[in-house]
Amino acid sequence: MSDAACEPGPEPGFAALLACHPELSLGADGLSFEQVTLAAIADALGTPCWVYSSGALLSRLAAFTGAIRDAELDGAVHFAMKANANRAVLATLGRAGCGIDIVSGGELMAARAAGIAAGRIVFAGVGKQADEIRLALAEGILQFNVESPAELAMIAGIAAAMGRRAPVALRVNPDVDAGTHDKISTGRLGDKFGISAAEIPALYAHMAALPAIAPAGLAVHIGSQITGLAGYRAAYARLAELTRGLEGQGLSVPRLDCGGGLGIAYRAEPVPSPAEYAAMVRATLGPLRKPLLFEPGRWLSGPAGVLLASVILEKQEGAHRFVILDAAMNDLVRPSMYGAWHGIVPLARSQHAAPLSPADLVGPVCESSDRFAARRPMPALAAGDRVAFLDAGAYGSVMSSTYNGRPLAAEAMVKGDAWAVVRARQSYQAVWADERLPGWLDPDLPG
Ligand code: LLP
Repeated sequence: MSDAACEPGPEPGFAALLACHPELSLGADGLSFEQVTLAAIADALGTPCWVYSSGALLSRLAAFTGAIRDAELDGAVHFAMKANANRAVLATLGRAGCGIDIVSGGELMAARAAGIAAGRIVFAGVGKQADEIRLALAEGILQFNVESPAELAMIAGIAAAMGRRAPVALRVNPDVDAGTHDKISTGRLGDKFGISAAEIPALYAHMAALPAIAPAGLAVHIGSQITGLAGYRAAYARLAELTRGLEGQGLSVPRLDCGGGLGIAYRAEPVPSPAEYAAMVRATLGPLRKPLLFEPGRWLSGPAGVLLASVILEKQEGAHRFVILDAAMNDLVRPSMYGAWHGIVPLARSQHAAPLSPADLVGPVCESSDRFAARRPMPALAAGDRVAFLDAGAYGSVMSSTYNGRPLAAEAMVKGDAWAVVRARQSYQAVWADERLPGWLDPDLPG
């Protein structure tokens, strides 16, 4: 996967955005994902709906694993399923040999239900609960990435009671700034994640003496949507230094987990390629000659998904042009939550060459932050016209809610010239199906 075709620019045009997305193409029928016309999916499923490309998932996985292999690293890829938990996505990647990074018992169950072997699952997170730890031990996962002495004690106690040895890596907080958005930085002291490097040697030695723990090594994850390699370089250098120190104390460090975080070109900006990332890993961690784990989420699934939406209406207020879409912040929260920029591209071919004028693209939710884009150059759009939000395959549907009584949107997957629904649109009734009316209210309310 080369990013060479991506030209940087403050407000890239539709063609520049499509150049960064090889599985998307503009034909006579408008925008297609692989060989499926996106308008056909929108016609059949309605909007908003998410569409994932099996081919894009697999080619991105192949590009990532290929870069690791070409750098002569012994590495395994574990998709961070917090980015996209649809079981069709997990099974597509899993059948191609990918492992999974989880952060909860719920993710563990979904990964297992997608056919992922427990031995390919890594469990991260600062607050694993006793029942989740028990479940993971019973399933026999590959490793826990532990983030505090208290959590280590908890896992050791539960494993001992179950007569198991828990494989544990310690997650280091390397105190580096990944140079990304504050809300998705995880490797600075003061972020809640990991254990400071100064504490690692003593804690690792303590862990190695616990009979119910099998030390699995060290882990690090410094943030997400990282578009420069300097933070990684510093973090991995620290990991290497700690590893050498531990081995110098006679401790065994079987493998290193490099975390995820590699950024993608949302607005056709330059981002490091997997080959550049792998070369940096080779330079920093390669000399240790250890098995490595990688936990990319966004890089694998982000560009492999789009969110389709229809125009409800346009409204002009003075000089301000609003395009009101049927997708909203409850579907794709990234713009309101992080000020994130997503490409928004019309499905109709004719609109790719039409004159542009700035528009605010907003959803119907009753919040001013329900705004996907401000003063974005867009063609004239009429009610019923459709657009695709690009790079919506990561941190899209997983972060959706039913706010404002809006059912969760449908999800589909394309593969070549075929497509299938991989999640039905939620019904209105399903939104409240798990609620119960207390006895003092009339239980015979109209259903
Ligand atoms: N490993 C760990 C331990 C993580 O916490 C994460 C992401 C990943 C791997 C995967 O990172 P990725 O390769 O996807 O950058 N909701 C935010 C992103 C939150 C990321 C949380 N941790 C967003 O929409 O930008």
